[in-house]
Amino acid sequence: MKIVLLGYMASGKSSIGKLLSKKLSMKFLDLDDYIIAQEKMAISKIFEEKGEVYFRVIEHKYLKEIIDKEEDFILALGGGTPCYGNNMQEVNTGNTVSIYLEGTTATMIERLIRKKSKRPLIASLGDDKIPEFVAKHLFERRSFYEQAKTKIKIDGKKKKEVAEELEKLLN
Ligand code: S3P
Repeated sequence: MKIVLLGYMASGKSSIGKLLSKKLSMKFLDLDDYIIAQEKMAISKIFEEKGEVYFRVIEHKYLKEIIDKEEDFILALGGGTPCYGNNMQEVNTGNTVSIYLEGTTATMIERLIRKKSKRPLIASLGDDKIPEFVAKHLFERRSFYEQAKTKIKIDGKKKKEVAEELEKLLN
């Protein structure tokens, strides 16, 4: 089984993916970490030195590589992965289970004000600018996230609770 977790920045894709991989005894892969290992560079450095367009090109390349090469896995995408090229088509091929970790705009704003530092798209924004940025960005991205085969609400839930719900959903 191939399970792909997607959703906005700070929706918990990586941490929930890790928890779920323990529960289901499946291999866990994180697309951002895979990119860092292959390029030997932090994501923020790639954005800074090579630009976002370069990042989106290699993000697509490594996504395809993982989906084509690996057998059973839980894969956490980056927040922007579903929104570029034909990435959602790649993700939804075969019997892959794609899952949107869905949070309301308010939830995502609240989380990102706390967790913006390692995220190049928002790191330099003042806290007062985050609400408008996130609201617009989510509005643009939601239609891509909605292409996931299934979704789960994350508002007000602990990561552990979301992982438990996902385990039930998948069984
Ligand atoms: C991005 C999200 C990041 C990372 C990159 C771009 C985005 O991943 O891939 O900074 O466009 O939303 P996380 O969702 O893990 O923060």
